Amino acid sequence: MELTKQEQKMVEGKGGNAVRKSMEILTALGEIYGAKRLIDVTSVQIAGVSYDNLGDAGLEFLDDLAKDGKVKVLTTLNPAGMDLENYKALGISEDFAVKQKLVIEAFTKMGILPTCTCTPYLIGNNPHFGQHIAWSESSAVTYANSVLGARTNREGGPSALASALTGKTAEYGMHLDENRNAQVKVKLKAKISGTSEFGALGKAIGEKIKAKPALILGIKEASIEELKSFSASIATYGGAAIFHIKGITPNKTPTPKEEITLTREDIDKALSEMNMEDCEIDFISVGCPHASINEIAKLAELLKGKKVKKEFWITTARPTKRIADSAGYSKIIEEAGAKFAADTCCVVAPIKGRFKCLATDSAKGCYYAYSKNQSKTKIMPIEKLVEEACKEMKK
Ligand code: F3S
Repeated sequence: MELTKQEQKMVEGKGGNAVRKSMEILTALGEIYGAKRLIDVTSVQIAGVSYDNLGDAGLEFLDDLAKDGKVKVLTTLNPAGMDLENYKALGISEDFAVKQKLVIEAFTKMGILPTCTCTPYLIGNNPHFGQHIAWSESSAVTYANSVLGARTNREGGPSALASALTGKTAEYGMHLDENRNAQVKVKLKAKISGTSEFGALGKAIGEKIKAKPALILGIKEASIEELKSFSASIATYGGAAIFHIKGITPNKTPTPKEEITLTREDIDKALSEMNMEDCEIDFISVGCPHASINEIAKLAELLKGKKVKKEFWITTARPTKRIADSAGYSKIIEEAGAKFAADTCCVVAPIKGRFKCLATDSAKGCYYAYSKNQSKTKIMPIEKLVEEACKEMKK
């Protein structure tokens, strides 16, 4: 890989130890993927924040970089293992909380904003069309490439941190035009709406064409919430880092020859696979990816004057929660007995074994509840989730 003089100095340690280590990571990745050069990034989002995933080895790695590392660009974090303010009410142990706070401290020392969310684009880390960025979280990566038209590979936690500390990434994969074009045309012959159905569509497409970028025809409109649900699901079930929806997403792509058709049956099949048998709902969660203020407003409207009978978490970004507080939504939701879990999510929080059957509107949430937390799942729209939440559990 060709490096500029300034980059060469960074490799030699002129920018300090954290920069030298970061350049080692970036140039190694560049060599592996055949990149010709490094390019500048304008935004970073770092995954691998939960102490549940990092452990003590990860914490030591961060502490070492934090000795002299400082970020060069706007950088936010993926969800942590707990709500950083309200973890006790969510049943997180003090031992875990101490370690998780040390992780956040190390990141903060490097100048990273302790905003722990998988929807950075909803809270101000919102790159525009054509910008090169280095993001980690798979749903955010797919959303950024597809809906915003920014350019990012799916970075690992260490490589995203390396980009934050240098302002650079290796130019390969999603940074190059030729890798962003659609490879399969998907004709959708069904009218779909809502986050749960867009999630089911992502599952149906992802399982059929895997990581190949799709050009989807037949969707007339899609909200931000539907697109974030779809981005999460197509990335989870297929691995795609980019998709195109004709008339909705901004990237240009040639029309591919390979073609598949999806019907109502395919959507219903995907939904029924996530609606498991012998699953009495004991946990309800909205906010995978993290809930938007629109979704929280909707929940406040639906929950007003009601009482939930089951554990009900709304996972969201702290800044979104603050808006919900000042708009009065949080009060209504909390009076109904539902709980906010800001900064975290049901997958990275250490809750394995606490619940047997999760109901959610998120196809990605279903995937990880089952695969990581061994919980059965039900998927349904938010309105139905609220209805279920207010029903007593059978004894
Ligand atoms: Fe976000 Fe956690 Fe879902 S990181 S996309 S809420 S699994």
